[in-house]
Amino acid sequence: VDGTTQAIYQLHTAAQRLYQHILLNTTSGEQALAYLHDKRQLTDDIIKNFGIGFVPEDNALLSYAHDQNISREVLQASELFISNDQGELRDRFSDRIVWPIKTERGQVIGFSGRARNANNSIKYMNSPESPFFTKGKILYNFDRAKNQIRQTNTVMIFEGFMDVIAADMAENPIGVATMGTALTREHVKQLARVAQRILLVYDGDVAGQNAARRSIDLIHEYAQNVDIGVIHLPDNLDPDEVRIQLGLLALKQALEQNIQTPVEFLVNTARVGKNLSNQVQYLAFLQEVMQILKVASPVEQDIQLMRIANEFGTSKQALQAQLQQSIDQKA
Ligand code: UTP
Ligand code: MN
Ligand code: MN
Ligand code: MN
Ligand code: MN
Repeated sequence: VDGTTQAIYQLHTAAQRLYQHILLNTTSGEQALAYLHDKRQLTDDIIKNFGIGFVPEDNALLSYAHDQNISREVLQASELFISNDQGELRDRFSDRIVWPIKTERGQVIGFSGRARNANNSIKYMNSPESPFFTKGKILYNFDRAKNQIRQTNTVMIFEGFMDVIAADMAENPIGVATMGTALTREHVKQLARVAQRILLVYDGDVAGQNAARRSIDLIHEYAQNVDIGVIHLPDNLDPDEVRIQLGLLALKQALEQNIQTPVEFLVNTARVGKNLSNQVQYLAFLQEVMQILKVASPVEQDIQLMRIANEFGTSKQALQAQLQQSIDQKA
């Protein structure tokens, strides 16, 4: 690591400490702290464990950097500031609550900032891509979770940072999240080195289901020996909302019990938005199901065809014949 990179790392570490101090101990952090306590139900211990902070509007980090005589080159390369047309710098995450993003070894290399009032501005903003901050390789919380992931041989992938924290509070400290981007090949390979089981815990909405589908394909492609599970959350909530609205125990139970195989999950999603008592839509549903089942194991094929036969009164032989047709078409 060269001198500039070293200085950038040190500045990030200092920024994290400063932002946390401002959140926990100063009046400019009061409103953000009240939000985290009251709206997000976080304790000071959790805030400290995850290094959460607040960036005030008075350019506190820039003042600190000037006091430390840190060069403009380092300030600009750090991406912790933005510059206006006159070339004046100001703290990038101004008026945001920030979560430090760390390398696998625990070095702070960036932040994700959330607007306190998400109606007024973009809800989440991350450090931009840079030579030391590559979103396709970074997994939020991997540094904290790695040992537990190894021990349980299991990792949970979430959409959001607050979801990772919610799972940690619900005694599942094996969560990671991507940096507001889709899962990449690098992420998958990194995780497959430490766990044989990957559980996908995406939001219960359409975006989350699509993300789960993409991740299933990617994991199949790059980590054949990994078992995949998909966790179904109640009421279309995200994990953090389950914790706040239904309670920690409800989240803990969902994470530990509501597991589906990828095939089960995909077949269930194929039903969404279809009126299956309408014959046209029922046949379209079956088409989709056959596409899913033709690459599934014989046992999973059997389970799913049986379920459909029982539920819709179509004979299992007819379903099996149609599956065979789909398989033959592929060949
Ligand atoms: P969501 O849009 O589901 O966030 O994005 P949310 O659950 O509503 O956010 P909260 O709970 O109100 O705070 C899923 C996650 O993706 C990340 C954030 O971690 C977010 O929680 N994200 C989203 C980014 O990193 N960048 C973005 O631009 C958007
Ligand atoms: Mn409070
Ligand atoms: Mn979402
Ligand atoms: Mn969400
Ligand atoms: Mn949320």
